[in-house]
Amino acid sequence: MLKQETVQIIKATVPVLEVHGVEITKTFYKNMFQAHPELLNIFNHTNQEKGRQQTALANTVYAAAVHIENLGAILPAVMLIAHKHRSLGILPEHYPIVGENLLKAIKEVLGDAATDDIINAWAEAYGVIADVFIQVEEELYQKAENNGGWRLFKPLKVAKKVVESDLVTSIYFENEDGSPLPAYEPGQYISIRVKVPGEEYLMNRQYTLSQASAEDGYRISVKRESDQTPNGKVSNFIHDNLQVGDLVDVSAPAGLFVLEETTTPITFVSGGIGVTPLNSMLQSLKNDAANEVNFIQCARNGKVVAFSDDIQGKVNALPNASYTALYSDENKQITKEILAEKVTDNTDVYVCGPVGFMEAVIKHLHEIGVKDEKIHYEFFGPAMQLAK
Ligand SMILES: Cc1cc2nc3c(=O)[nH]c(=O)nc-3n(C[C@H](O)[C@H](O)[C@H](O)COP(=O)(O)OP(=O)(O)OC[C@H]3O[C@@H](n4cnc5c(N)ncnc54)[C@H](O)[C@@H]3O)c2cc1C
Ligand code: HEM
Repeated sequence: MLKQETVQIIKATVPVLEVHGVEITKTFYKNMFQAHPELLNIFNHTNQEKGRQQTALANTVYAAAVHIENLGAILPAVMLIAHKHRSLGILPEHYPIVGENLLKAIKEVLGDAATDDIINAWAEAYGVIADVFIQVEEELYQKAENNGGWRLFKPLKVAKKVVESDLVTSIYFENEDGSPLPAYEPGQYISIRVKVPGEEYLMNRQYTLSQASAEDGYRISVKRESDQTPNGKVSNFIHDNLQVGDLVDVSAPAGLFVLEETTTPITFVSGGIGVTPLNSMLQSLKNDAANEVNFIQCARNGKVVAFSDDIQGKVNALPNASYTALYSDENKQITKEILAEKVTDNTDVYVCGPVGFMEAVIKHLHEIGVKDEKIHYEFFGPAMQLAK
């Protein structure tokens, strides 16, 4: 428990820190990586450069501070982050490093305004927040280790590489000794850690398991990011360099964007490579599932789209299901009217795609009257606040 004076100081300084939040976290990362360059083997450098990670961390520290007397209120957000941390192998010994550098950055940015009382109060609050993360993450590590799983990263063998479309290639991983990999929930992801030629540090990326949990290993399906300069580092490495037989460090499945068991209608709405978790969820449904199921797949065109045949096949096998493909090159976009045909206020809607796509879909869903608790979505990057 924090002392009442500490809570008062935290509450009084949150608005000041919020104003300087991004500057503080930028300073924090710069200092931390200077002092601990080995951490560059863990963090995603692109997210750093684009500022997405800074914003995510700043938001969370301040949200936690606001709720410092009732951290239970932010538990759902903590759980999502803890899954990401666990999948990246974040350990208790990392927390004091982050804490020390965060406090130093607060002092550096605020200068004399950051009195000893303020710094001490934040040190105490950070300790409380860090302990919550450490405890939740330890539970997740133990869970990951059960049932034939593992704690940190484990080398898995590339068993197969399959071209799914002009942009998407699947990689099948299996245990080196051929023993089965543990089951996962449809929608979960793994982290991979690779050494990309020419890069000084190891690179970590998350990839969704793109099929239903099956005995024949883990499949990820990777879109080649080659539209912008510089090209995506890891996706291009996977497409161009990764070979059958190679070993890749992989962490155990993680994530909370999973299919909830329900008898009510389900509508999946995918944009581009956001199809991977939704395909895994669809394929996991039993063929006698009585729910109404709708799958709306948005993509640029038929050459880049992935899994449309698999989705159509599963939809045909289900008793009460529909499939809609919308290709933007043919001027077909997702609209409120199309969504309204496939959802009611009783439908659970699962959405995954680029940020702008999800914003548009969720806005339409709100207009149709779908409640937030029926809308499930995931970012393929650090979680962000969606524009309303
Ligand atoms: C939970 C989760 C699940 C995911 N599932 C999948 C999946 O199933 N399939 C999939 O393909 N991906 C998935 N992703 C995304 C994946 O993790 C990677 O982010 C993606 O493959 C891009 O990585 P990269 O290394 O190729 O690109 P990066 O090198 O990280 O670059 C990403 C993009 O940023 C641009 N960029 C790079 N540097 C800069 C810069 N300095 N300034 C501006 N722009 C820059 C690049 O051009 C590129 O477009 C998922 C992500 C998450 C978080
Ligand atoms: C209380 C302290 C911490 C808070 C509040 C925090 C918060 C966050 C948040 C909000 C995210 C983004 C999650 C997402 O949406 O994907 C994140 C990701 C991450 N965190 Fe933390 N974190 C903390 C401690 C740490 C520590 C100690 C480390 C290790 C040094 C760490 C390493 C990472 C990494 C590597 C990611 C993935 C981000 C990326 O590479 O893009 N975090 N954290």
